[in-house]
Amino acid sequence: MTSPPKKPWSGVFDGATDPRVEEFTESVSFDQRLYAQDIRGSAAHAKMLAATGMISADESGQIVSALEEIGRQIEAGEFVFRRELEDVHMNIERALIERIGEVGRKLHTGRSRNDQVSTDFRLWIRDSIDGIDQTLLDLQRAFVGRTKRDKDVVLPGYTHLQRAQPVLANHYWLAYCEKFARDRSRLADCRTRVNQLPLGTAALAGTSIAVDRQHVANALGFEGLVANSLDSSSDRDFAIEFCFALALVAEHLSTWAEEWILWSTAEFNFLGLPQAYCTGSSIMPQKINPDVLELIRGKTARVVGNLQSLLVLVKGLPLAYNRDLQEDKERVFDSFDTVAACVELATAVVAGAKLNREAIAVSLDRGYLDATALMEYLIGLGVAQRTAHEIIGKLVRQAMEQNVPLAGLPLAEFQAAHKALDKKVFEVLGVQQAVNALVSDGSSGPKQVARQVALWRKRLG
Ligand code: ARG
Repeated sequence: MTSPPKKPWSGVFDGATDPRVEEFTESVSFDQRLYAQDIRGSAAHAKMLAATGMISADESGQIVSALEEIGRQIEAGEFVFRRELEDVHMNIERALIERIGEVGRKLHTGRSRNDQVSTDFRLWIRDSIDGIDQTLLDLQRAFVGRTKRDKDVVLPGYTHLQRAQPVLANHYWLAYCEKFARDRSRLADCRTRVNQLPLGTAALAGTSIAVDRQHVANALGFEGLVANSLDSSSDRDFAIEFCFALALVAEHLSTWAEEWILWSTAEFNFLGLPQAYCTGSSIMPQKINPDVLELIRGKTARVVGNLQSLLVLVKGLPLAYNRDLQEDKERVFDSFDTVAACVELATAVVAGAKLNREAIAVSLDRGYLDATALMEYLIGLGVAQRTAHEIIGKLVRQAMEQNVPLAGLPLAEFQAAHKALDKKVFEVLGVQQAVNALVSDGSSGPKQVARQVALWRKRLG
C-alpha cells in the first residue's frame, strides 16, 4: 500500500487529517464534473505564465500536454479520483506533478483554488447555458411545429380555470414560445455576468506575481475581468442567477404540464398524449397515466428548492471566500440536470400529442365563451361598456335557465334586452365568430395569430 498523498498545505501542519474530516470536507465526489473546465483553465493559466516569463515555454508545453493526457484519461474512465485530495482541482494538479515532477509544481503560481474554482464553475455554467438554450430552442420548435396541423382548432380559454373566451390552439402554443423566449433571454443575460474571468484574483487580495489576466480571458473566451478580488472570491451571484433562470423554466414547464394533464383527462378529453411518454398502473389494467408530465410538474419543487438553498447558503457570509461556498455545486448541477431532462421530454410530448378535435368542438358549446364577443358587439352599437355588460349578463342568465347556449335564445329575448339587438346577433354568436372578431395586437384573432406564427417560424428558422 502506498502512503497517503501529502496535502499541499502540509508545511504548517504537524500531523495527518482525521479521515472523517477528509470525508466530510471532500468535494471531488461531485466536483469531478468540472474536470474538463479545470483542465482548460489550467492550460490557459500555464500559457499565460509562459507568456509573462514566469515559466519557460518548454515548461508550459510540458504542463499543457500532461494536462491534456490527464483529460483523456479521465474521459476514458481510467483516472482514479482520490478523496483525500479533496477536490477535482487538487486531484488533477497532483496527477500533473506525478507525471512531470517539479515543473508541475509551478502551475499554481499566481492563483488560488478560490479563483480556480470560480473560473471552472463559470466555464461550466457558460457551457451549460449554451446547452440548455439549444434544448429550449428545440422545445419552441416543437410548439411551432404543431401550428400547421392545429391551425383552425379553437379551444376554450380559461381564467380561474373557468371557461372564459375562445382562443386558437396556435395561440396557446405561441404563448409557451413567448415564455421560453424570455427564459432564453434571461439565460443569455445571465451569461454575460457569468462570463467574467476571476482567475488572477487569487485567494482574496490578488497576487504579487505579475499575471496577465487579459491573456487568460482571451484564451478562455471571457468577455471581461472580474474587477475586485474580494468580490470575486466571495461571489456566487452568477450561479444563483443561473439557478433562478432555470427555476423559471421549471415553473413554465410546470404550468404547461398541469394544463396538459388536465386536458388529457376523460373530463376534458382535449388531448391524447403519446403513449411512449405515459405509464400504466400495477393494479388497474385500463390506466394510461401522464407520469412524465406529473414528474415535470413535480421536479419543479427541487429546482425551486435548489435556488432557495443557494440564497440561504450565501446569506450573511462575510467577505471573502468561505468554505460554505463548496455547497453550491450540487445544487447547480441538480438544477441543470433536472431542467435539461424536463425540457427534453417536454419537447417529445409536445411534438407527439394529438388534439381531439371532435371532443373539443362538442365542448365549445358549453360555458358561454361568446358572451364577451356579444358584449363588445353591443358596445360597437353605441352602448356604454358597463351597461352592455349588465345586459349580456342578464341574457346569459336567461340562457342558463333555459339550458341553451346564447345562440339558442329566441330573437325576441335579444330585442327585449336592447333595441339595437336584431337578427344580426346570430352572426356574432358562436365560438368561431367570437374568435374571428378579435382584432387587438397580441390577441387570438386569426389574422393576429397567423402573423405571429409566421414571425415565429422565421425567428426559429
Ligand atoms: N473544494 C473547494 C470548493 O469547491 C475548494 C476550496 C478552496 N479554498 C479553500 N480555501 N479551501 O470550494
